[in-house]
Amino acid sequence: MLETIQITADYLINQTTLKPVVGIILGTGLGGLVEEIEIEKSISYEEIPNFPVSTVEGHSGRLIFGTINNTPILAMQGRFHYYEGYDMKEVTFPVRVMKQMGIETLFVSNASGGLNPDYVVGDIMVINDHINMFGDNPLIGRNNNKLGPRFPDMSEPYSKRLIAEALMIGNDNGIDLKQGVYVGTTGPTFETPAEYKMFRILGADAVGMSTVPEVIVARHMDMQCFGISIITDSGVPGQIVEVSHEEVQEVAAAAEPKMTMVIKELLGRI
Ligand code: HPA
Repeated sequence: MLETIQITADYLINQTTLKPVVGIILGTGLGGLVEEIEIEKSISYEEIPNFPVSTVEGHSGRLIFGTINNTPILAMQGRFHYYEGYDMKEVTFPVRVMKQMGIETLFVSNASGGLNPDYVVGDIMVINDHINMFGDNPLIGRNNNKLGPRFPDMSEPYSKRLIAEALMIGNDNGIDLKQGVYVGTTGPTFETPAEYKMFRILGADAVGMSTVPEVIVARHMDMQCFGISIITDSGVPGQIVEVSHEEVQEVAAAAEPKMTMVIKELLGRI
């Protein structure tokens, strides 16, 4: 696997002189951050050796090199979801490549269903921990010690320093940021009322279909992680209504400017 990662990393390194220090994975309806990038180079996933190709609506599938707030970044516009049929190694391959390119920090954004009764649709939650409910793990199989340890520590999956900075940015700019636990599940079904209730009982504040695999792999390689989620629908008993991918995208797009602002400011403080 290391050789495959190296081939892709070398290909990408040779595309530009820019040396990204932060990798950003943009979730459903959250592509607006792209407007903030001073783009140096944009590459379609199809052109990248060994890269899987994204299929889901709302994900256009491009890797963008550029700067935001003077910080060189590499952004993934469109991610690979487990529910699309990619295995965990494919879902997390781009994160392996990022690290191989010298990137030490990973930012991830996503849309999620709110479980905490204090949340309302449109809220933004800084992820401070996660629960893996995929029933799978990207690190299953032979471990390559060059990438990371067999039994990686997960005591600080999301960087406490970046969380504290983000909360300060929210405070300084009048953006009410929530903080909570994200439970990652396979999808593609949204949850039944009983499943939302179960995830709440398990200790989660929001539920979604991504992020956990990427963060596990990033932590395996000792990258620091920052995760942020837009609550696009409610899984709180009594508030559950029918939900569609279109609504999720609409709510995410409406809340996105605030999230983009936080990420932009945070990138200035890396
Ligand atoms: N459940 C799972 N994933 C989601 C949801 C949800 O309610 N909303 C957006 N992504």
